[in-house]
Order: sequence, then C-alpha cells, then structure tokens
Amino acid sequence: MSISLKAKVMSNQPVGPEIFLLTLEAPAIADAARPGQFVMLRVSPGPDPLLARPFSIHGVEGGKLLILYQVKGKGTKLLAQARPGSELLVWGPLGRGFDLAAERPALVAGGMGIAPLAFAAERLEERGAAFDAFYGLASKEAFIAWDSVSGDGAFFLEDWGWNGASEDGSVGLHGLVTEPLRTRLEQDGERPGAVLACGPLPMLKAVALLCAEFEVACQTSLEAPMACGVGACLGCAIPSVGGGYLRACQEGPVMDASLVDWKKI
Ligand SMILES: Cc1cc2nc3c(=O)[nH]c(=O)nc-3n(C[C@H](O)[C@H](O)[C@H](O)COP(=O)(O)OP(=O)(O)OC[C@H]3O[C@@H](n4cnc5c(N)ncnc54)[C@H](O)[C@@H]3O)c2cc1C
Ligand code: FES
Repeated sequence: MSISLKAKVMSNQPVGPEIFLLTLEAPAIADAARPGQFVMLRVSPGPDPLLARPFSIHGVEGGKLLILYQVKGKGTKLLAQARPGSELLVWGPLGRGFDLAAERPALVAGGMGIAPLAFAAERLEERGAAFDAFYGLASKEAFIAWDSVSGDGAFFLEDWGWNGASEDGSVGLHGLVTEPLRTRLEQDGERPGAVLACGPLPMLKAVALLCAEFEVACQTSLEAPMACGVGACLGCAIPSVGGGYLRACQEGPVMDASLVDWKKI
C-alpha cells in the first residue's frame, strides 16, 4: 500500500560531491519501507516542477526516511535548497524491493546504486545474515562520506568491508566492480546464493551477463524515467524477454535479471 503525505524536512546535508542526504519525517512510509523500494518526491513546496522525482529509500531511522541523492538537473538542484522545517509531498513506498532470503547474497553497487543497497545491507546485518558487498565508483573523490549505520561520516568501504573497485585506481582495485565479482563467482565454494545489484545500466547489464554465465540468481534494480511512479504512464517501460515490456515502477524497480531483454538495453 502506498501512502501519500507532506513530510517535514529534518535535515538536508551535503555528504559528497553534489551528493546530499535528505532526512524526512514520514513515519507511515518509513514503517512500511523495504530495501529496493522507492518514493516519489515533489522536490519543492511550490508548483514547479510539477512532476515528482523517484528516489530509492536509503534507510529508515525511527519514523524518519533517508534519501541519498545526487544533483543532476533542475529538480535535484531545487531539492538541494530544501531547508529543515519545510514540507515536501512524498508518496510510497513504491515498487518491488529486493528479496533478501538468499544464502549469503552478494550486493553489487555502482555509484549512487549504493543508496538502496546500503538499506539492504542494514537489514541483513540486523538479522545477522552473512553477505558480501562490492562497490564500484569512478574515483576516490566520488566516495560518499556517510555511513547510515553509525551515522559518523565513515566510508562504507572501510567500515563494512565492501570490496571496492575504482575506474582510476585511486581506491580499491583498479577497474570495474565486475572484476572482483567475477573472481568471487569463480570460487566454487564461495558462490553467492544471489547477486543483488543497483547502478548504471551498463554495469547492471554486465552483472546480469556474469550471473547468467555462472548460473547465479540475479536481482537488478533498474532506473527508468518515471512520471507517475504508479503504473499509469508507461514512461518507465523496460523491454522484457519474449517481447513486451515491464514497468520499472510496478514490476520493478528490482527485477529478476532473467526477465529483462538486455540486448535491447
Ligand atoms: C526507481 C528509481 C530510484 C532512484 N533512486 C535514486 C537515488 O536514490 N538517488 C539519486 O540520486 N537518484 C535516484 N534516481 C534518479 C533520480 O530520479 C534522477 O536523478 C532525478 O529524477 C533527476 O531529476 P532532475 O530534475 O534533477 O534532473 P532532470 O533535469 O530531470 O535530468 C537531468 C539528468 O538526469 C538524468 N535522469 C533523469 N531522470 C533519471 C532517472 N530516472 N534515472 C537516471 N537518470 C535520470 C537525465 O537523463 C538528465 O541527464 C532514481 C531513479 C529511479 C527511477
Ligand atoms: S512511471 Fe508511470 S508507469 Fe511507471
């Protein structure tokens, strides 16, 4: 069930290059939220822009909803100006989240894909479930100086033992995140029960193909332009295997990678 409410901005602080952590008071949404689900958020109290923007749920703290976002264009620029005490219209939780039931899953995040996977990691930690985590980013500068568990501004990579990879080699392994993932998949006894991935489409495609090669179940969280977020506009269509489309906002954003026609993406 999706809930619509006016949420009070508790804080909206920079935590990285053009990256902000927004905390909203939204108890009804926070209580119902599951990792991988998202909300639609009106980025300003005024009428412009009219369309809400989709954001993954990065975490919940009591009745508060955490959103980790990067400034991209008009909407997120406006959002970065939201001051504590103001109110923003938000509805959710929306869509299908990650299935966290697999034995020792591997979480694979690319860039801002860390937003929903940090929430998944938190839930796995709470229930004492073992998991491995992989984080790919362009460079050390792209690090997000925020740890939603301790709240002390520590880096994910160091605190949580994430296997890091960076494209310029400035942190972790020099290369793409799929390289340490491949190494793990090649180790027979160490194979994850499932791979849970979120990041740019080329990364998701590479992860999906890798999982197919090693016959490991793969759940991908897909981003698509979303106007309504509730299945009505078809703006978020993702090509599906066997023809037709899946709506990222309804059948996703987390989809079994075997259902997606990656050749058309
Ligand atoms: C399910 C879902 C969850 C998301 N979660 C997060 C999140 O946790 N944190 C975060 O920072 N962003 C997230 N996004 C992306 C976020 O919605 C867009 O960055 C945002 O809508 C851009 O709005 P804007 O008005 O600032 O930019 P616009 O002016 O609308 O666009 C600026 C640039 O951003 C690109 N863009 C716009 N919409 C999207 C989109 N849906 N996906 C990818 N690129 C887009 C455009 O192509 C353009 O290049 C998510 C998107 C989806 C669909
Ligand atoms: S965003 Fe409108 S149908 Fe998915």
